[in-house]
Amino acid sequence: MRRPLIAGNWKMHKSVAETTAYLEALIAEDMPATVDVLCCPPFTALPAAAMIATGSVVRIGAQNVHWETTGAFTGEIAAPMLGEIGIGWVIVGHSERRTLFGETDATALARATATQAAGLEVIFCIGETLEERDAGATFAVLERQTGALGELDPSHLVLAYEPVWAIGTGRMATPVQAQEAHAFLRVRLASMFGGEASEAIRILYGGSLKPENARELLALADVDGGLIGGASLDVRSFSAIIRAAADCAAGEKS
Ligand code: PGA
Repeated sequence: MRRPLIAGNWKMHKSVAETTAYLEALIAEDMPATVDVLCCPPFTALPAAAMIATGSVVRIGAQNVHWETTGAFTGEIAAPMLGEIGIGWVIVGHSERRTLFGETDATALARATATQAAGLEVIFCIGETLEERDAGATFAVLERQTGALGELDPSHLVLAYEPVWAIGTGRMATPVQAQEAHAFLRVRLASMFGGEASEAIRILYGGSLKPENARELLALADVDGGLIGGASLDVRSFSAIIRAAADCAAGEKS
């Protein structure tokens, strides 16, 4: 049984003051013990976030990382630097990084490798565009994007399936589309890592996940949590999704 993970990807939102207020409110919520909770604020808010979250059930992650540990890379941040301030997780290969900032399968893999080498957990994002889905290429794209994941350590890896057309659009994947993609990915992982190791890898759904649709998505057999953008920015909607995940884990799985 995989423990659900509910992860908030704040993107370029929230100042240090806003982060502090948000996390204090979230930590004050009565959080279910059965769900892992992760918040990923912008870099500037990470030190404050890590300090506030210490001793709570909330984990803090970064949204990107460089693949080298040190060197002449103006504007970049290395995984050991994140580890030093208490960051335990990194989102890698998000579609916004891929479409807006030139991320490729190869650079995403390099970042994931560096993250694990520094002892941090990876959330590796994949997902097809609308053109790719309409062309019937969804599985081919997912196969390509996961092509080199076998080089990673499966025990520090989470996969996030985020159909690009569902991110920030209000248009979520249907439960059938989500389950079909997740089931495909689970078979992929099994072929890469073998049965036992792959069974433990969580596959998150991302893309317009919100309190109103959380239950139907999180109840799917191969959906082990969510990577949430817009709906994670508000404590009440984020904690409603956390509660939905707890309910699903408690027996609503289909
Ligand atoms: P969204 O973003 O929930 O706002 O669609 C998800 C993501 O980009 O991870």
